[in-house]
Amino acid sequence: MSAIEVHPDPQQLARAAAGHIARIAAEAIAARGRFTIGLPGGSTPRLLFTLLSNLPWVRRIDWEHVHVFWGDERCVPPDHPDSNYRLAHEMLLRNVPVPAEQIHRIHGELSPAEAARTYEQTLRTFFPEDTPTDPQPRFDLLLLGLGDDGHTASLFPGTPALTETTRWVAENYVPRLDSWRVTLTAPAINAAAQVIFLVSGAAKAEAVQAVLQGPLRPSAYPAQLIQPRAGQALWLVDQAAAALL
Ligand code: 6PG
Repeated sequence: MSAIEVHPDPQQLARAAAGHIARIAAEAIAARGRFTIGLPGGSTPRLLFTLLSNLPWVRRIDWEHVHVFWGDERCVPPDHPDSNYRLAHEMLLRNVPVPAEQIHRIHGELSPAEAARTYEQTLRTFFPEDTPTDPQPRFDLLLLGLGDDGHTASLFPGTPALTETTRWVAENYVPRLDSWRVTLTAPAINAAAQVIFLVSGAAKAEAVQAVLQGPLRPSAYPAQLIQPRAGQALWLVDQAAAALL
């Protein structure tokens, strides 16, 4: 079961997302002195990043105590137009005082396998103290997008990374895009304390309905793999994306 919030339009959706992020960040920093967030790629987060970069939101998050990660990355250099890191850097990270050493990007300039191995090592080094007996990448919050084909992160329909059960990070060739990606695996995403899907636009309506209300077919709709161990995912959608619910 997932929790769903429907907001009238993309602007109000972004404001709602900013509110959830600020709340979760404050709780995490109060409890553990830090807030670990995984960002999505794609275009949907643009409005949110702009909001978070400006008043009032830029003052509502204690950026000095934020650690930034990504749910996935394209296998391109960090200055490439397709880079998820570049998008976040240009629209958010260069506008807020997150210390550089607290920005943990996926090194898309490496080979896919090396980028995946390096990022997994980064996560295993960063998260061991959370659960020493059963280490898990327990992000305070993972923000995810949804593709119109039901993918999330870079877990695309029918691709090998969908069946990964032990690695936290996998390289994943996506035939539909004829390109390599690096992605958190479903077990890694499901280890997060909170997962929020941010979905906007009519083009996503069929995928939202299929993922949330259709039969369980995770190979066809990989977002169905996301069932966080700590509790239900929150779906933040605008009315256009929720039209078929
Ligand atoms: C990526 C993302 C991917 C994205 C969806 C939605 O690297 O592209 O992580 O999972 O969130 O494809 O993308 P849009 O927001 O552009 O529709």
